[in-house]
Amino acid sequence: MAMQNVTSPFSATDFIQAKTERRKLSLVTCYDYTFARLLSRTAVDGILVGDSAVMVMHGHPTTLSATVDLIRLHTEAVSRGSPNKFLIADMPFLSYRKGLAAALDSAQILLAAGALAVKIEGVDGHEDVIERLVQSGIPVMGHLGLEPQSVRAYGGFRIQGRSEESARDICRRARSLEQLGAFAMVLECIPASLAQEITDALRIPTIGIGAGVGCDGQILVLQDLLGLDPAFHPKFARPFLDGAPRVLDAVARFDQAVKAGTFPAEGESYS
Ligand code: KIV
Repeated sequence: MAMQNVTSPFSATDFIQAKTERRKLSLVTCYDYTFARLLSRTAVDGILVGDSAVMVMHGHPTTLSATVDLIRLHTEAVSRGSPNKFLIADMPFLSYRKGLAAALDSAQILLAAGALAVKIEGVDGHEDVIERLVQSGIPVMGHLGLEPQSVRAYGGFRIQGRSEESARDICRRARSLEQLGAFAMVLECIPASLAQEITDALRIPTIGIGAGVGCDGQILVLQDLLGLDPAFHPKFARPFLDGAPRVLDAVARFDQAVKAGTFPAEGESYS
C-alpha cells in the first residue's frame, strides 16, 4: 500500500479560497511516476489521476473499462512521484453506482493509494454517495457536461448543454453538487456561455476542459498539453509543446547512432 500523500500544501478548501480571491486554478492529469516527478516541480495546483488513463495509457476507446484496481495502481505511482501535490483520483465507471458501501470501499482504496480527493461524474442517483463521502471527510470533485462514462448514452463524445433543456439540466445538477458539498467541479465540453453562467452562480470553483475561459480553472490531459498525439486535436486541447515530433526525432537519432556504431561511445561504456 502507498504512503498517504499528506505533504500537499494545497487542500480542497484552498480551491474555494482561490475562487474567492479570483486566482485561477491549473490542473493536469497524470498517470505515471516519471511525469509525476516532473509535475512535482511545477506550480500546477492539482493532479488528476483520471480514468482517461485507460485511453491514454492503455489504448482503450472509452473510459468504461477503467477499474478501481487500475486507478489505484496509477494513483500509487503518481503519489510516489508528486507527494507535494493535491492529488485527485477518478472513481471509475459504476464504482459509485453499486450501493453506498461498495462506493465507500472504492473511495477508501483510492485514498489509501495516495489520493486526497475523489472525482465522480454526474450527480443524479448517487447523491447519497457524494453526501456520505463529504460527511466522512473525503473531498469530492464533481464532473458535469460531457461525462465520458455516459458516452454510450450520448452515442459518442458530444458537446453537451447546447439545447436550453440540456443547459438548464446541467445548471440544476451543478447547484445540486454544490449543495451536496463538492469542493469543485469539472465542466467538460459545454458552451463557454453556459460554463460562465454556472461559474458565476456557484461558490465552489469550476474547472473547465473545453468549457471556455470563464471557468475558475482549467484542466488538460498532460499528453494533450505536451502534443504527444498529433492525431488527437480537439480544439480545446492546446498543445503547449510539439511533443510528438520531438520524441520521434530523439528516437530516430538513437536508431541512427546505434546503426552507425556511434552509440554507445567509449565514455558511455564500462572498462
Ligand atoms: O479522466 C479525465 O482525464 C478527466 C478529465 C478530462 C477532466 O476526467
